[in-house]
Amino acid sequence: MNYIGIDLGTSAVKLLLMQGDGKILKIVNREYPISFPRPGWSQQNPEDWYRETVAGIQELLQGSDKSQVAGISFGGQMHGLVILDDKDEVIRPAILWNDGRTAEESAYLNEEIGKENLSKYTANISFAGFTAPKVLWIKKHEPENFARIRKIMLPKDYLAYRLSGVHCSDVSDASGTLFFDVKNRCWSQEMCSICGIQQEWLPKVFESFEAVGTLKPELAAELGISEKTVIAAGAGDNAAAAVGTGTVGDGTCNISLGTSGTVFISMDKFGVDANNALHSFDHADGSYHLMGCMLSAASCNKWWMDEIIGTKEYDKEQQEMKALGENHVYFLPYLMGERSPHNDPDARGTFIGLTMDTTRADMTQAVLEGVAFALRDSLEVAKSLGIEITHTKICGGGAKSPIWKKILANVLGIRVDVPENEEGPSMGGAMLAAVSCGEYQSVEEAAKAIVKMKEVIEPEPELTALYEKRYQQFRKIYPACRQLFQLLK
Ligand code: XUL
Repeated sequence: MNYIGIDLGTSAVKLLLMQGDGKILKIVNREYPISFPRPGWSQQNPEDWYRETVAGIQELLQGSDKSQVAGISFGGQMHGLVILDDKDEVIRPAILWNDGRTAEESAYLNEEIGKENLSKYTANISFAGFTAPKVLWIKKHEPENFARIRKIMLPKDYLAYRLSGVHCSDVSDASGTLFFDVKNRCWSQEMCSICGIQQEWLPKVFESFEAVGTLKPELAAELGISEKTVIAAGAGDNAAAAVGTGTVGDGTCNISLGTSGTVFISMDKFGVDANNALHSFDHADGSYHLMGCMLSAASCNKWWMDEIIGTKEYDKEQQEMKALGENHVYFLPYLMGERSPHNDPDARGTFIGLTMDTTRADMTQAVLEGVAFALRDSLEVAKSLGIEITHTKICGGGAKSPIWKKILANVLGIRVDVPENEEGPSMGGAMLAAVSCGEYQSVEEAAKAIVKMKEVIEPEPELTALYEKRYQQFRKIYPACRQLFQLLK
């Protein structure tokens, strides 16, 4: 049988059709707009997600045997707030994971309710992009909208609802709401009371590989597939990407170089970083994970290429770069503020170290290196917890760049294993659908059978030593700029 994986991303929905044995039959990408109504704000229209997803499924299935489709599941951008009224209509545009408007609400939760209490109830503290501070923001700034809320949904869960008619979520994505008790895999009544919401407004939670229902008959007819098609809960995009790259099992690591950049560490047992600099979330395979998330990763390169130097020839620009490890320009990649590990929505992008002989290629290189250094910040937190990471998988659009992968291996000083395809979340979504339909007994079994590596990038001792010196300089720049960022507000 065949399975559809849907990655509801920030710039596009990516759909993948997978055969039961893991062979990818087709991939389709459909873009939708994102709006930045004010600096640091970021919104999307859920109807755009649904329209492009349905059109994407139609395009994906063109020319294939539609009777073979057995299941559909998801990876989705996390933390976004979709609110529905008593008729299940969307009340306002979704506020996304990289929206920084909730600095005040987040500070209230961390300081007035207290990080210790939040961590006790949810295993996490508040970050501006999380869902609970967004609900508090709506309550204060849009009371008329707050009064209409009857359902609080995450982005991919809204899609699952439109496909199946079931209000559902999964443990990995629910973990990023700050309404969820990660350790016990259920909603936290304490957090509902603190934020003044009713628990019935939150959807029913499933394990990521569980079926929530089947495709709505009218949609099944429109798409020409069976109304018995299973809709599985799916996962937040990072947990789905981890499944798609085979990052299951204790201590395995995946780095996603997408719009965001994440360091994802799969854990057999529940654990919390004492400073909560890394998120402690449920994994899509039934276990747990720790994760550091930077808000702008491949999006920094896209911004630099598309908006600033005005080119689509990313490869050509990267070939102009000179010796790695010797660049004197640094870039702080905080174009949307930063989450891990600084938790500072007011942080900003910064070039530093420019001289008269600085070239465009040096600045391009600084952007790629700045992202790698910022990912290392999260890896350093993991190391400080005694977690030893010797190698990582990689996925996301940025993983297409050979030079960026090499920079990463050497900045992090670890081996980078490159899977056969970099379609992490959509592949993971398809695999979760296959598990839910019984094609595999567990997510681990599916990962073992399906995921293969195509390339291994070893760090080079000399280059790693050069980058070590540069990383030690990089990590001094943000603390020196922090006060300045406050003045720029
Ligand atoms: C993770 C996070 C991002 C989004 C991107 O915490 O906020 O990785 O999930 O889609």
